[in-house]
Amino acid sequence: MAMERIDKLIASQGLYSRSDVKYLVNRKRVAVDGKVITSSSQKADPEKSVITIDGKPLTVKKQLYLMLHKPKGCVSATEDKKQQTVLDLVPQEWRGRELFPAGRLDKDTTGLMILTDDGVLAHNILSPRKHVRKVYRVELDIPVTEEMRQGFAAGVELNDGLCKEAKLVITGERTAEVTLSEGRYHQIKRMFGCYGAKVVELHRLAMGNLYLPEDLPEGHCRELTEEELKLLQQLI
Ligand code: URA
Repeated sequence: MAMERIDKLIASQGLYSRSDVKYLVNRKRVAVDGKVITSSSQKADPEKSVITIDGKPLTVKKQLYLMLHKPKGCVSATEDKKQQTVLDLVPQEWRGRELFPAGRLDKDTTGLMILTDDGVLAHNILSPRKHVRKVYRVELDIPVTEEMRQGFAAGVELNDGLCKEAKLVITGERTAEVTLSEGRYHQIKRMFGCYGAKVVELHRLAMGNLYLPEDLPEGHCRELTEEELKLLQQLI
């Protein structure tokens, strides 16, 4: 792996800025492979070098993949002057990373959201050409009907064109699970709107085979495990 400047490398992990690193280096608090360094422009190997700050090893992660259990009331944006964003829910330790949401959910939709600084992966997940499968739990204001199920399977006609076929499994009088392989603006709400139904609750359960774990509380996020990251990479 290419060598990188130590200030850039440490700052990329989100905890310290480049000027923080300079401060720490000047006070001889940073070491590479056991040797205290004297300049923050010194280079290190992101994969092989052991970097320590005050004797504590820094785990260098090139890219960060978080899953968030999105609550209602925050927007899927990186910044917003008035409203809370999904990034406002990220714990301090990851705030310095250039994270962004890989896929959007409406403000009132809850459920699985991926936040990453891996631009390539995020771009691919968002790409309409990749047809990433997403599973939603839906509650309507009226009963779910067989007509809706058949209509979703055939492809609902929206004002921006015909939707790809979608799977609708009726799970209760007013509840269903819907699987989509595209991601248009307000898609599920508009699809049910064609049948005179209003979506009162919408929750994303899964992206591909990556499911939101039951033990991740609303508003919380955590890093993906290696297996979960593989499932995410399989999506594209
Ligand atoms: N469809 C919608 O209508 N809203 C979402 O947030 C996701 C899918």
